[in-house]
Amino acid sequence: MSDRTLLLAGNWKMNHDHLEAISSVQKLAWALEDAKLDESRCEVVVIPPFTDIRSVQTLIQGDKLWLGYGAQDVSQHEPGAHTGEIAASFLSRLGCTYVVIGHSERRANNHETDEIVAAKIKAAVSADLTPILCVGESLDQRQEKTHVDFTLRQLEESLAGLGAEALDGLVIAYEPVWAIGTGETATAADAAEMASAIRAHLGEKYGPGLAEATRIIYGGSVNTDNVAEIVASADVDGALVGGASLNGPDFAALCKAAVAK
Ligand code: PGA
Repeated sequence: MSDRTLLLAGNWKMNHDHLEAISSVQKLAWALEDAKLDESRCEVVVIPPFTDIRSVQTLIQGDKLWLGYGAQDVSQHEPGAHTGEIAASFLSRLGCTYVVIGHSERRANNHETDEIVAAKIKAAVSADLTPILCVGESLDQRQEKTHVDFTLRQLEESLAGLGAEALDGLVIAYEPVWAIGTGETATAADAAEMASAIRAHLGEKYGPGLAEATRIIYGGSVNTDNVAEIVASADVDGALVGGASLNGPDFAALCKAAVAK
């Protein structure tokens, strides 16, 4: 078993307004307390919409809940004339630890290129946020068996211009696009294959220290029934969970199943 702490991050996407967020986080916290997880072995995080973050912060910090939180995206720009954008420094001030960057829904729907993703990672790192960088192939690429090459190239380009020192703490989420929200999960062997290719790539580019320390998680239709098998691989350090993280007690059950790893 590695020294890396298992990360279970619930990406709510555009679900739950701030009132629903308070209720969901409260129920998650109660259910996690009942589940008696080994807190030294895992970390549970919620990633709500921007408008919920202040409420989630108040609840988690006020009640000293054992939960982390973060944001689903960040601007690559410094504060200034960028209507509708959210600066990394604002997220830090709200106590966010994590920020998801380069999710495939943003790459596809908001035209985020690897270059933009790399700029967002730089902005996040300089504000002391931990990026959860999402990479992963399409169904066509998987069928053509170019999935590993594609994903490693996407990783390399998304990290362009960043040295190992900037990547300390980085989390990489391998999320095959065809498995997101479809009920179609990559097999545990698919997830393990890609996680180990990503770790080897990090080793070649940045050295064994960073490769060993970086958490590589899997995302795409993860649920309570399949999570244990997915995280059983030595190179898979957790899960980025969409749909199955929206209900607090259900997400707590998923976390419990994962920690049985
Ligand atoms: P899903 O989403 O678990 O609903 O497939 C995962 C993600 O997009 O992060």
